[in-house]
Amino acid sequence: MPLNLQGIQMKTFSVKELLSPDHLHQEVTVNGWVKTYRSNRFIALNDGSTINNIQCVVDFEEYDENLLKQINTGAALKISGTLVESQGKGQSVEIQVKEIKVHGGADPEVYPIQPKKHSLEFLREKAHLRVRTNTFAAIMRVRSALSFAVHQYFQKNGFFYVHTPIITGSDAEGAGEMFRVSTLDNKKPPLTEDGEIDYREDFFGKETNLTVSGQLEAETYAMGLGKVYTFGPTFRAENSNTSRHLAEFWMIEPEVAFNDLDANMDLAEDFIKEVINYALENCKEDLQFLEQRLLDEEKSKPQAERSEMPLIEKLKFVSDNTFKRVTYTEAIDILRNSKPNKKKQFKYLIDEWGADLQSEHERFLVEKHFKCPVILFDYPAKIKAFYMRLNEDGKTVRAMDILFPGIGEIVGGSQREERLDILLEKIKALGIDEKELWWYLDLRKFGTAVHSGFGLGFERLVLFATGMGNIRDVIPFPRTPQNAEF
Ligand code: 4AD
Ligand code: MG
Repeated sequence: MPLNLQGIQMKTFSVKELLSPDHLHQEVTVNGWVKTYRSNRFIALNDGSTINNIQCVVDFEEYDENLLKQINTGAALKISGTLVESQGKGQSVEIQVKEIKVHGGADPEVYPIQPKKHSLEFLREKAHLRVRTNTFAAIMRVRSALSFAVHQYFQKNGFFYVHTPIITGSDAEGAGEMFRVSTLDNKKPPLTEDGEIDYREDFFGKETNLTVSGQLEAETYAMGLGKVYTFGPTFRAENSNTSRHLAEFWMIEPEVAFNDLDANMDLAEDFIKEVINYALENCKEDLQFLEQRLLDEEKSKPQAERSEMPLIEKLKFVSDNTFKRVTYTEAIDILRNSKPNKKKQFKYLIDEWGADLQSEHERFLVEKHFKCPVILFDYPAKIKAFYMRLNEDGKTVRAMDILFPGIGEIVGGSQREERLDILLEKIKALGIDEKELWWYLDLRKFGTAVHSGFGLGFERLVLFATGMGNIRDVIPFPRTPQNAEF
């Protein structure tokens, strides 16, 4: 153990450790960044381990003026001293400082994260420094806890984690919103006789893209390991500049052999509730902070735009209540007869069965009509991906979307078409090249079985759990149209 100048043994602790009652009256060392320094005497130090700061009390007469001058918001310090019961209000313990080392200063003239309120937009431009604010540190700790909870849930329940490829030759969702991966000379690409780009000369000898979903590959593993999940980066080149879309996001995709759609819905509901419960139990202080942040933010909004419940109550509400399960057909009836439809307040009016639901419709169902999370299922085949299992009616598929208040769609999933002939027909009708999917079709030739899965957008979950309003604020470095800084 290192000795300090007086020859006393100093053990290094995190702020979180120091704030637990175990180290009172010990000689301690802590590293962190200055949050505030007031009255030439009180340093609030934070190292990211917790939302709370440790107060360090300095006897300024004992220190060199030049050293004290460097103690500004944002400076990195190493502080040693005795941990004592605090005399002041607002904290239970504090450090009586005996030694200060400045790792690095932060000139207040230029350091952008000053102890005042910064807008989220401003902080987005400073994404490399924003984690030093309470809000972003809290969000990122909750994000970390949720991702641990995801793995814990699946590992505890007998699922295997599969790493599906990031570079792929297939478009799982068939939406064509992909980022190309190529090493061809983009100024002078090789051309075929017809004047098209000749991908046979590209790195992989074919056209390849960043994955939009690991599902198709996950299906192959479910048909051998039984229960699997992926949790990885996903890329979509959709030009959606909304508060719910990212070009690079993280998706969790479980896939289970022998599960039908009902079992799939049960799994999704149980999974979401358990990870939210994990956050409620393990991120109490951060959630309390984020709840207060939201209340403060909403003070300036008209009553109608404010959240119906404070954050923690909302999370408990979701984890305690059964999600409402409704067919697409029932939902269309509700929407068709709804006030905003009749009064033409929806941007996209619902008149016919078969219409794709827009987020305004999803949010009406969840926030105004049912007032709880909703699972919509049995969608028209026409508006869903090729791999979903056709129902007996010949026009709907075994699809399900989970809709959340304030978020809209958080999960999309389905029972997969396991019958070779029907899948082939569908692929042909959609003009998909059968040869590209030879391996996917093999699953239907050898030991095919009922199976199901879903995809949960991780950032949408973090958005919900933190009460934030924009998906750009729940991922460290958001990738959106016209924006790939950092
Ligand atoms: O509904 P999606 O497109 O479903 C699939 O990709 C299926 N292959 C999943 C499966 O069955 N294994 O996407 C699933 C979820 C959406 O519900 C949404 O939460 C999220 O992924 N998502 C996005 N999140 C952020 N930005 C985007 N651009 C997103 N696109 C989808
Ligand atoms: Mg979807």
